[in-house]
Amino acid sequence: MSFIDLATARYSCRAFTDEPVTQAELDQLLEAVRVAPTAKNTQPVKVWVFRSEEALEKIRACTRCHFGAPLLVLFGADSADEGVFVRPSDGQNAAIGDACIVATHYMLEAEDLGLNTTWVGFFDTKLINEAFPQTVGYDLVGLFPTGHAAPEKGGPSPRHTERKALSEYVEEL
Ligand SMILES: Cc1cc2nc3c(=O)[nH]c(=O)nc-3n(C[C@H](O)[C@H](O)[C@H](O)COP(=O)(O)O)c2cc1C
Repeated sequence: MSFIDLATARYSCRAFTDEPVTQAELDQLLEAVRVAPTAKNTQPVKVWVFRSEEALEKIRACTRCHFGAPLLVLFGADSADEGVFVRPSDGQNAAIGDACIVATHYMLEAEDLGLNTTWVGFFDTKLINEAFPQTVGYDLVGLFPTGHAAPEKGGPSPRHTERKALSEYVEEL
């Protein structure tokens, strides 16, 4: 499949079956994470995997957007990492952008594996920090319920095909 076909086929899945994600699939998802580019290659990113019953129960209590997935993966940016790229001209810290690139690799690898996911930003950071103290101090950029789409309810929402015209935001200078 070409990249544009894969990117077009991806959609946000909001209902999952109980079928687990295999260890081989998780390994491949994390390999896509590993090869992602980051500014100055400093990789100021943290990834937390939730798949034990105990971890799932705790993370599900932090968001209503878990959609019953059998695996959730959370991405955090470490803006305080001593190596993180900070652009000298304006002080912009690259960590959040880096974490989003890494998370995007994960999201698209899921599609390539025939899995489904959704980038979820609607969670309670305070609850996550309390339930998982390891996450304190990170900018949490996205939580990814991951698995197999449930029949009927697991399809794309009407918003999936709604996009602005490129002419609204692409400008040739
Ligand atoms: C940064 C980010 C945060 C998002 N947060 C949520 C969320 O909390 N809950 C949700 O159901 N979808 C969330 N989405 C999914 C978007 O709503 C979705 O990508 C958009 O409506 C386009 O639909 P599509 O992904 O099916 O193409 C998020 C997407 C992004 C990129």
